[in-house]
Amino acid sequence: MNRNEELKQQAYSAVKKQSSTVRLDPYFPAYHLAPPAGLLNDPNGWIQWKGIYHLFFQWMPFDTAHGAKFWGHFSSENLTDWTLEPIALTPSDWFDKNGCYSGSAIGSDDKLTLFYTGNVKNEQNQRESYQCVAESTDGRTFEKKGVKVELPEGFTAHFRDPKVWQHKDNWYMVIGAQTKEETGSVAFLESNDLEKWTYRGILSHANQEPFHDFGYMWECPDLFELGGKDILLFSPQGIASDGIQYNNEYQSGYAIGKLNYDSAQFTHEDFVELDRGFEFYAPQTTLDDKGRRILVGWMGVPDQNEFKQPTVKEGWLHQMTLPRELKLIDGTIFQIPLEEMKELRTTQTIKESGKQQHTASISRASEVQVDGKIQKLTLFDNMTLQFNEQSKLLTLERPSYADGQTERRSCLLPNGLYSLQLFIDHSSVEIFVNQGEAVFTSRMFADEGVSTLFAEGYEELQITAWTLRNDAVNMKNEYSAEG
Ligand code: FRU
Repeated sequence: MNRNEELKQQAYSAVKKQSSTVRLDPYFPAYHLAPPAGLLNDPNGWIQWKGIYHLFFQWMPFDTAHGAKFWGHFSSENLTDWTLEPIALTPSDWFDKNGCYSGSAIGSDDKLTLFYTGNVKNEQNQRESYQCVAESTDGRTFEKKGVKVELPEGFTAHFRDPKVWQHKDNWYMVIGAQTKEETGSVAFLESNDLEKWTYRGILSHANQEPFHDFGYMWECPDLFELGGKDILLFSPQGIASDGIQYNNEYQSGYAIGKLNYDSAQFTHEDFVELDRGFEFYAPQTTLDDKGRRILVGWMGVPDQNEFKQPTVKEGWLHQMTLPRELKLIDGTIFQIPLEEMKELRTTQTIKESGKQQHTASISRASEVQVDGKIQKLTLFDNMTLQFNEQSKLLTLERPSYADGQTERRSCLLPNGLYSLQLFIDHSSVEIFVNQGEAVFTSRMFADEGVSTLFAEGYEELQITAWTLRNDAVNMKNEYSAEG
């Protein structure tokens, strides 16, 4: 058996051993994507190809730890119902032996092409990184094509996460990078045949105006057009928290600007955090055939008490966010739940209006919509969201899963708070504020038996809630115990 097959078989049997425990965990999500066993991190290769949406993920099948990552794979026709596909990539070759790290996908009529980083620790235990390609003609089985980009001068081996797109007749790639001076940056490459890549320079870095000392490493860049602007999305590391900003261990956000493809210059505005919650990192976008720019993020943050999460003892860790549509409205990126998410609704459990205070019981997989001048919302006696009319601050509080201490994340809503849409799923919540003006994404490890929702308004509120489906993700597969 070759190394690739061997690693696949080992991963499949690791999943077989663990998957029933994983699926019985009351914290396992009903409709979010989570690993069949082991640790999931970044979304990778996010694309709609020949009508099917493909979402790959960074995956450690053997343990709830980071390490030599595989690419796991989910597919969907409608963005609500997902199927776990066979393993896409294993760290089986000299150029990716310590991990098939993050990357992206592009599609043509006859093939789906993946770009990823081969992470290597050499004999001296030094890091090497290679940008690699794998191809598929059926969207299920992938053949590696080896290394396409070597490390350019001026960077450390922290050089990874290629995102590729087409503009006019050429192909472009951004790579998350660290310069030899240990500044976070984004490298820019160009190709006219997807084979030979030319390094064009740095698009932005931690000291490029308006940034100053903005981190020692930038991960997972993405560059795309939205509302007539060019948006650079990236996940910087090494930024100190500043008031209500940058409170997570590492951040994810965007800078709006203009990319000049001829001069390889990107001029941009300041960095804006994309999500205000406790767990959100390494998002990636794609454009679908309806022209929507759709983002998926990892509902986790590296090095942020990851291994203190209670699911570790059940043999799984982390999940993805729901896909969200991006819109640029008055200079701010709004994130909006997709229309398709309505298909997750089953029974309506609440429809109330005309009261200032509401207490209700909801399912642990629910969508909740609250409209009106909201003051306070409590979920499962565990998480509280509170809006202060004077300061205009909306604050989410929860007990830390590391030490039980109350922790907070806030955002400023200059025009007040008038709407909340919550997607609750066993151990997570995504809170869309004012139709996407802000989002709080967080894990929520509330006591299992508690089902109370409490809402209070400055005035009367309208509340609607639905129980959501628990059969949207099909994990039955040739390699799961259920298959
Ligand atoms: C971001 C990241 C990427 C890397 C991957 C490894 O979470 O560190 O930069 O490619 O995870 O799993």
